[in-house]
Amino acid sequence: MANYFKAFLIIQCMNYEPFGGTGIKVSRLVYGTWYLPHEDAKDDNGLFPVSRKRSFSVINRALELGINFFDTANVYRGVYDRKSKQPGYEHIGLSEQILGEALSCQDRESVVLVTKVTGRTGSLPNDQGHNRKHIMKAVRDSLLRLKTDYIDFYLLHGPDASTSLENSIRSMNHLIDEGLILHYGVSNFQPEHVEEMFGICRHSGLEPPSAVQELYNLIDRNFETGKLKVIEKHNIGAMIYSPLAQGVLAGRYSGNADGTSRKAYDAMFAEKTSELAARETVSRVAEVSGSRGTSMSRVSLSWLISRSRNIFPIVGASGIEQLEDSAGATDLKLSEEDIRRLEA
Ligand SMILES: NC(=O)c1ccc[n+]([C@@H]2O[C@H](COP(=O)([O-])OP(=O)(O)OC[C@H]3O[C@@H](n4cnc5c(N)ncnc54)[C@H](OP(=O)(O)O)[C@@H]3O)[C@@H](O)[C@H]2O)c1
Repeated sequence: MANYFKAFLIIQCMNYEPFGGTGIKVSRLVYGTWYLPHEDAKDDNGLFPVSRKRSFSVINRALELGINFFDTANVYRGVYDRKSKQPGYEHIGLSEQILGEALSCQDRESVVLVTKVTGRTGSLPNDQGHNRKHIMKAVRDSLLRLKTDYIDFYLLHGPDASTSLENSIRSMNHLIDEGLILHYGVSNFQPEHVEEMFGICRHSGLEPPSAVQELYNLIDRNFETGKLKVIEKHNIGAMIYSPLAQGVLAGRYSGNADGTSRKAYDAMFAEKTSELAARETVSRVAEVSGSRGTSMSRVSLSWLISRSRNIFPIVGASGIEQLEDSAGATDLKLSEEDIRRLEA
């Protein structure tokens, strides 16, 4: 009875919308696992290792909040780990593995899983890209780590100039035919390449992509110059990454960010965020959040959601409080005046 009541409450709190034309009902917010909560102390390499315990808590809280949409990638390691990018691959897939473990006691039908392929996963010549040899290995590895027998949305993480688009599409269609994935999509592709894919599919009777994953936020609005038109034209769902400009639009770097922030991992990141935090846009988000009595994160996410019914922001969170805060964005309705001020 208690569980029934809890499930009822969750359904009351979160709306589930069809993702583009696929009809699959997903929460408006996706939980992303590029970064996962980390331990307090650095390891021998001077890096914060991922905390499994904290990661499980955040993923469980996401489920309690009604989030049923989860994003990962075969190359995510859970922490920003510049050193092990060259040439060690031992942490490759850690985010998939933790997500798979955290969700393993859930009914598989209650969650929608997204993962990706493209980036280098090992030192062999074919350990990257969209050639069928790599894709077949990568999908099996991801399924094992995610502890599932199918992926809902399998994305090409970025373009691969060495494999033709037609070949990549045929491999994705093959995975659909084999039942290993339900849908496929692209990330970091130019709009003209997405159009080209639709053209190839029309001529060859193949299934076109049904998802994109792109960068879009109040500071970086390049998405509006072509990609937005493509998703509307083809009714494709868009998972939006870095919706808070990696925390900048949540006010994370407006004062002195504490030593647990991403800034503490990497000097290049610290420089970039300091520059972005000084932008006029960040002050406007602070003004609107002040006048509405809500958080900057909710204002930034709510603005994104208001752009199109096909937009689904992916939220990252280094702790439960951040996730709970961001989840409230789906209840915030910005006025036309708020939007005018944010876009000024
Ligand atoms: N397809 C791609 O190429 C691609 C690229 C990047 C990301 N992604 C996906 O998109 C997801 C989200 O990207 P992102 O992590 O850059 O998103 P983001 O939401 O812009 O940044 C997340 C960071 O913002 C801070 N934050 C989040 N909520 C907050 C809140 N309520 N208050 C204060 N600070 C808050 C935290 O920073 P601290 O960690 O400093 O606390 C958190 O780690 C990733 O996990 C990944 O799944 C995909």
